[in-house]
Amino acid sequence: MIKIAEHPNELGFASNGLVEITVNGKKICVARVVEGLEIKLFACAAACPHAGARMANGTIDPLGNVICPLHRYKFSMVNGRNVSGEGYHLKTWKVEWREDGVWIDLGGMV
Ligand code: FES
Repeated sequence: MIKIAEHPNELGFASNGLVEITVNGKKICVARVVEGLEIKLFACAAACPHAGARMANGTIDPLGNVICPLHRYKFSMVNGRNVSGEGYHLKTWKVEWREDGVWIDLGGMV
């Protein structure tokens, strides 16, 4: 796990709930999804698997899926599934907001 912030507010989310950050030289899109009083954090590849659009410029739908800004393909932030059905897969990583900060699990990637 790699610490990316003390608190989610430090990440600088735009009004669309998305922000692109760099972790160990790798660009990653982080999403903040507000469900009632709960804030959930997700992370996915910075570039869309379809044609490379910048996911941080996309939007999050009411179900918490991220929508690519270019051709509007839609992906689950939980597992990267292409829920709009075009057959692509968006790489995702687990983000944990704990008492000691915000952490991302990049697995063996870095
Ligand atoms: S580049 Fe994302 S849907 Fe085409």
